[in-house]
Amino acid sequence: MSVSLLSFAALFTAASAKSIWLDTTPQAPQPYALKKGHGIPLGQAGAWNWFPVTGNSSGNAFCIMNTAGAGTAKGQGVFPHVHKKTYENFYSFKGRVQLWGQNLDTYKANTSVQQTRVLAAGDFGAIPHNTIHTFNLVDPDTLLTGVLVPGGFEELFFAIDKSGFNFDLTAYDVYPQTDFVPRTDDVNGRAGPGNWYDGPNPLPADSKAPIWVAKDHGPKWLNSDGGRYQIISPFVTGNLTDNAFAQGTITMSPQLKNGTAGPVPVVHSPYATAFQMEEGQLAVDVQGYDQATLIEGDVIFVPANTSFSYFAQAEFTKFMYVSGGGSGLDAMLQANAKTWTSAFYPTANGPLTKRTSPMVKI
Ligand SMILES: *[C@@H]1O[C@H](CO)[C@@H](O)[C@H](O)[C@H]1NC(C)=O
Ligand SMILES: *[C@@H]1O[C@H](CO)[C@@H](O)[C@H](O)[C@H]1NC(C)=O
Ligand SMILES: *[C@@H]1O[C@H](CO)[C@@H](O)[C@H](O)[C@H]1NC(C)=O
Ligand SMILES: *[C@@H]1O[C@H](CO)[C@@H](O)[C@H](O)[C@H]1NC(C)=O
Ligand SMILES: *[C@@H]1O[C@H](CO)[C@@H](O)[C@H](O)[C@H]1NC(C)=O
Repeated sequence: MSVSLLSFAALFTAASAKSIWLDTTPQAPQPYALKKGHGIPLGQAGAWNWFPVTGNSSGNAFCIMNTAGAGTAKGQGVFPHVHKKTYENFYSFKGRVQLWGQNLDTYKANTSVQQTRVLAAGDFGAIPHNTIHTFNLVDPDTLLTGVLVPGGFEELFFAIDKSGFNFDLTAYDVYPQTDFVPRTDDVNGRAGPGNWYDGPNPLPADSKAPIWVAKDHGPKWLNSDGGRYQIISPFVTGNLTDNAFAQGTITMSPQLKNGTAGPVPVVHSPYATAFQMEEGQLAVDVQGYDQATLIEGDVIFVPANTSFSYFAQAEFTKFMYVSGGGSGLDAMLQANAKTWTSAFYPTANGPLTKRTSPMVKI
């Protein structure tokens, strides 16, 4: 295991250092945090984007691209196309996003069936290499979080902004597939094989088709290290990406208050790691920086080989993680976890839950 859990020990006891907060995405890797909506901006017709993590800021590990906009009743956000080197991941932060996908080779051989899913908040769809795809924002207030691996692919969007489509798209790893016709027969947010909200969404054995994980319907693990619970819900793991990256969510409890809490685990990953907050409040300590408190929409980036620790300051604190390699934070947590089926962590003898906490009872 290339990720180590050290003790909290003396790592963060030095006098406070400097703020980790920046106004926008830096141009070289360093620890940083950005408030919701901050990051390099890019406006395009009907939708606007911001890039809290870029190829430049992550050492080309990955890009996080947020796209906000209103849905259009018909049509797709972009023409159907394939990437040969870029793994593109779609996560609905709010509102609905419809995504279509089919492996290019089996599409041409007519041996697979086109899939589409309507991703509501918390739902995920991965488009591995060589997968035809297109998408559409659906609702009046939609926020799509894209994770593009490796980082640097985002230069495409800046090139389009500058010169329209008047350049060689293949130089940016875009191969149009204009004969692909997105199906329109979806029922209950789905068309094509596989479960959606109606059953478990296991991760596949390989990356030869889109990967779909409806919120809380994928595999889950419960880790109890350091006297708090963390539910790890992976979307894409290193074994599906040749160890290029991993992505998923973590839902965590505050430290248990019954005296069993151990030291706060320190993470030291050989890969760049980023979190984007969804619910609750998370405190993050990165070596050499003041503690940062993150709420909904905030992003924190920690470069490879940089020690950090984190703990929830509110019940049911949830965030999306991205690891720039296959045996990063998620793999470390899973290695000491048990498989878990509930979307909630245990409540007996432990923390209050958001359902019963007097703090939220009206
Ligand atoms: C990344 O860095 C290159 C080289 O300095 C620069 O041309 C490019 O605009 C940067 N991209 C972004 C998205 O900041
Ligand atoms: C593709 O396969 C389907 C199902 O086997 C068949 O109904 C359809 O006619 C095939 N299409 C072409 C263009 O061969
Ligand atoms: C890939 O990793 C996931 C999560 O650790 C695991 O559930 C799955 O069994 C692994 N798949 C393979 C093919 O090893
Ligand atoms: C992180 O540390 C590992 C092990 O020392 C090393 O192989 C790797 O190159 C380092 N990564 C970066 C980005 O410095
Ligand atoms: C503290 O809470 C945990 C989680 O519910 C439980 O496993 C443990 O037994 C509790 N310890 C005590 C001393 O009550």
